[in-house]
Amino acid sequence: MASENKLSKRISFVAGNWKMNKTLREAKELATEVVRAASSLLGAEIVLCPPFTALSEVAKTIEGSSVQLAGQDVFWEEKGAFTGEISGLMLKDVGCQYVIVGHSERRQILGEDDLMINRKLKAALRQQIFPILCIGETLEERDSGKTLQRIESQLKQDLNGLNKTEISQVVVAYEPVWAIGTGRNATPSQAQEVHQFIRQILGQSYGQELASCAIIIYGGSVKPENAYSLMAEPDIDGFLVGGASLEAKSFIKIIEQALRAKKEKE
Ligand code: PGA
Repeated sequence: MASENKLSKRISFVAGNWKMNKTLREAKELATEVVRAASSLLGAEIVLCPPFTALSEVAKTIEGSSVQLAGQDVFWEEKGAFTGEISGLMLKDVGCQYVIVGHSERRQILGEDDLMINRKLKAALRQQIFPILCIGETLEERDSGKTLQRIESQLKQDLNGLNKTEISQVVVAYEPVWAIGTGRNATPSQAQEVHQFIRQILGQSYGQELASCAIIIYGGSVKPENAYSLMAEPDIDGFLVGGASLEAKSFIKIIEQALRAKKEKE
């Protein structure tokens, strides 16, 4: 159950975004392996984001473990004539504690804009589901020196109208579009610069206390090989992992590396 204060601490947070992958059988197998490993990965919030069709199967598989469930998207209305959409009420009902909102694939391929993303965030929070809000610049924006400007604008538009308590329940995922599924990750210092900036914006807008507790994760070609050095950065609290979360072995290694780096940071 999502508890009001669950995100009041900067926990290590690793979510696996399976995107449009995994049949029921495959989903169950992968979730089973993650659950098996989770008991020895103490101190990390481990979240699985299967496709809608596998949510119920994965919910059953992770029951009684520390692994949490997330949807990959949510619609802003609760119910009604919205063919193909899934509401926060339905996600809550199937056992989701989290939901990804504003992933760049949805922004780019399906035309989601910041206004829609803002409505989706509010819909998730109404159901006490913690949103994992994805923001990030394109390669063009980075190359023209507009990264921070883009990040600030997405953050402000997406969080518009949310109160402090609500904002404290949002996990922010910095996902540079050019790093997603390309094998080209942001360097630790490139990621750190943006993470620090996100924390700074949150601090200016909602206070230092909120900013220092905010969970800000990185996504974009995270692998076992780069997880440690990214996580070693002071403002990186975890990962949203795509490709490397489709296999238990690499996903678990990423969590191990994250925990190792976190321990050394403390
Ligand atoms: P990737 O995807 O790890 O395959 O780059 C990350 C994401 O899209 O969340």
